[in-house]
Amino acid sequence: MTYEHAFEADEPAIPSIPHLLESVGHTPLVRLENLTTRSEGRLLAKLESANPGGSLKDRAAWHIIRDAEARGLLRRGATIIESSSGNFGIALAMIGAARGYRVIAIVDPKITPTNLALFAAFGAEVVVIEEKDDSGSYHKTRIAYANRLHREIPGSFRPDQCFNPLNSEAHYQSTAPELLADLGPSLSTVVCTVSTGGQLGGISRYLRRYAPHVKVVGVDVDGSTVFGGEAHGYLTPGVGLSWTPDNLDDLSAVNEVYIVSDEDAFVACRTLVRTEGLLAGVSTGAALLVAFRLAIASRPRDHVVFLASDRGERYLQTAFDERWLKEHGMSTEISLEGLRRRAARLRPLSTDPKSECANYRYELAEQLDSPTARRRPKRLG
Ligand SMILES: Cc1ncc(COP(=O)(O)O)c(C=O)c1O
Repeated sequence: MTYEHAFEADEPAIPSIPHLLESVGHTPLVRLENLTTRSEGRLLAKLESANPGGSLKDRAAWHIIRDAEARGLLRRGATIIESSSGNFGIALAMIGAARGYRVIAIVDPKITPTNLALFAAFGAEVVVIEEKDDSGSYHKTRIAYANRLHREIPGSFRPDQCFNPLNSEAHYQSTAPELLADLGPSLSTVVCTVSTGGQLGGISRYLRRYAPHVKVVGVDVDGSTVFGGEAHGYLTPGVGLSWTPDNLDDLSAVNEVYIVSDEDAFVACRTLVRTEGLLAGVSTGAALLVAFRLAIASRPRDHVVFLASDRGERYLQTAFDERWLKEHGMSTEISLEGLRRRAARLRPLSTDPKSECANYRYELAEQLDSPTARRRPKRLG
């Protein structure tokens, strides 16, 4: 009998997870004690950073890859190609290492040294696209390149996070039910940042259906045009897009939207770690600031949850480096009073996003030759 067999025969009942990817989801919900007072609402962070790849994107990436495996679209050793400079690419790189796939991430020059190092650590390949698109960002040029490469590499797979509806489906099936299971009727408000619309789209759709009393709030960054407006450059990573993403297909499920400036987002994530010990990324700062504003205006029994989308270690050379902040003209201030003042200054961009903020570009998926667009029926009307 080999050692392996002997181990199997009397395998002890260890409470372990069968494989790493099974640990995606079921993230902790943490009550923050030091920001709000007893007479205000309760502020809670859902720690998406506790996912094994360090971000919310593990959920969508694993959901999409599992579905592709089940449908026979991915064979061992196949290549996964995705446009992402950040968390979605890192999630795929982790899955690729665990399941035996080659991963190619199409990134842009804004990628941080930390993310490049993470791709290398997981053994993923990286292609840097230098050409900007018509909105001054790299989203469309990166996506178009990824789609071209996908056509050139036989048997390759494109998760297509921007257009694939399974992105928001992952949050509909996991993040939103987890929130409701944890808090039940005391869940009053959920605040999410937006880029591909995965988390905001999935969570809002689920809560509208199963808990319509919950207020769902979307947060974009100043300069992005997910909810319309003028496009300009911005520094907040992970948030924003130059159109309303298809994954956020029902804007009537979102109650309010806010726009947060780069400086507010950076100051908020830096204040969060100093007041609560929670080291999280810049998008978490943006969500926190809006959630803080809403909690201040809520009753003590109301629970205001925001999504802490990724780990702060990814931003040690930027958000948590005073020299970098000064070089980029941003405040290095950290104070609870200062954060309160910034929260008090926020006003919703809209309390009726469906009629005021839609910036859909339905033709884009086809223009960029998205494989998801090729699979789905033509939109009627
Ligand atoms: C750190 C961070 N926050 C927020 C988001 C936005 O999530 P979604 O793409 O689901 O809208 C992302 C997406 O990449 C992200 O990486």
